[in-house]
Amino acid sequence: MTILCLASYEKGHEFLRECKRQGWNVVLLTSESIRQEARFPTESMDEIFYMADDHHRWDLTHTLNAVAYLARTRSFDRIVPLDDFDVEVAAMLREQLRVPGMGETTAHYFRDKLAMRMRAADAGIRVPDFVHVLNHGQVAAFLERVPGPWVLKPRSMAGAIGIRKLASAQEVWETVHALGDEQFRYVLERFVAGDIFHVDSIVFERQVRFAISSGYGKPPLEVAHAGGIFTTRILERESETARRLLAENQRVLTGLGLLRGVSHTEYIIGRDDGHVYFLETSARVGGAHIAELVEAATGINLWAEWAKVELAGGHVPYAPPQSREDYAGLLVSLARQEHPDTSQFADPEVVWKMEKSHHIGLIVRSPRPARVRELLEDYTARIARDYHAVEPPQQQPSH
Ligand SMILES: Nc1ncnc2c1ncn2[C@@H]1O[C@H](COP(=O)(O)OP(=O)(O)O)[C@@H](O)[C@H]1O
Ligand SMILES: [Mg+2]
Repeated sequence: MTILCLASYEKGHEFLRECKRQGWNVVLLTSESIRQEARFPTESMDEIFYMADDHHRWDLTHTLNAVAYLARTRSFDRIVPLDDFDVEVAAMLREQLRVPGMGETTAHYFRDKLAMRMRAADAGIRVPDFVHVLNHGQVAAFLERVPGPWVLKPRSMAGAIGIRKLASAQEVWETVHALGDEQFRYVLERFVAGDIFHVDSIVFERQVRFAISSGYGKPPLEVAHAGGIFTTRILERESETARRLLAENQRVLTGLGLLRGVSHTEYIIGRDDGHVYFLETSARVGGAHIAELVEAATGINLWAEWAKVELAGGHVPYAPPQSREDYAGLLVSLARQEHPDTSQFADPEVVWKMEKSHHIGLIVRSPRPARVRELLEDYTARIARDYHAVEPPQQQPSH
């Protein structure tokens, strides 16, 4: 059996390793621009091919031609995207080559913020009020009906790139007009003040087989725009909030039609009304080292489990491994120092440190959620004082 993995960015080493452990033939297609620096686990791969890319984006026709050419002499049983931006490319290739797995319609529900909003709303899931930036009459009616502030966001980006929070209708119109022909690629929605959460899941045959909920510190939009330290931590499993998020998460993933795979799905709990709002979902492992966070708390590696459910493909039963019930918290910040000295973070709860220039990142683990919270607060203050740096918001993805 042969799997083709798409990785426009370097991602998913553990996915590739698990495929090899399961005895599959592993073919990787990645971006030419990372040929020199990428450190994919070559011992777990049979072949690697490079697509010419423009900032990690591949020309769709060229990609289809390249994969169809490879398929003349190989038979692909699975095609799997390792990065968010590869999800739609993989779906297109599956449809063209008639390989089983998520098709294009469902892929849009997991990539396009407008498609997921519409589908979720149809399924009776609570979402922030929204409108497609397409018909100006409808946008005007939305601005009349829904009080500001609003957020204007690109339908298919990530990492808060290109998202703007706007306070007046005049600002909205100026921004919309400035977008010119790109307007239809945006969705406008009510800004729901509140805390932001994420649920990371493993789905097999439409059932959520494993899910864990976590809460971000500062909302990611604030971190992206104003700078600050990104934090998230696993919620107490018995808490009311965790229970509500997990229940809503099951409804969202069923409503959007995820058959099998992993998902990183985000929610807002409204400060004013206490409701759970569906923010966004994806059919991939969460970025920003959330896989390491989940593994620290549970022992479950989402990449390896994802490989198992993809390869099982509905023919072989799947059960996730027994999960450890610890708690963990993650901090990531830009650092003033090129190679920050992190030796001051010496508590025994520190289980992971990030290795990346001009960054500082840590994961702490404890059986006690209160201890995780306390360490996060202490470390956040110390990082702000000794390391933190601010960079202008990004316009292009760089993960
Ligand atoms: N409707 C909204 N109300 C309040 N905050 C929002 C809303 N939409 C987005 N945000 C903020 O922007 C961040 C990024 O938005 P999101 O839809 O998750 O896109 P991305 O793919 O960039 O993560 C969120 O984490 C949240 O902080
Ligand atoms: Mg998000």
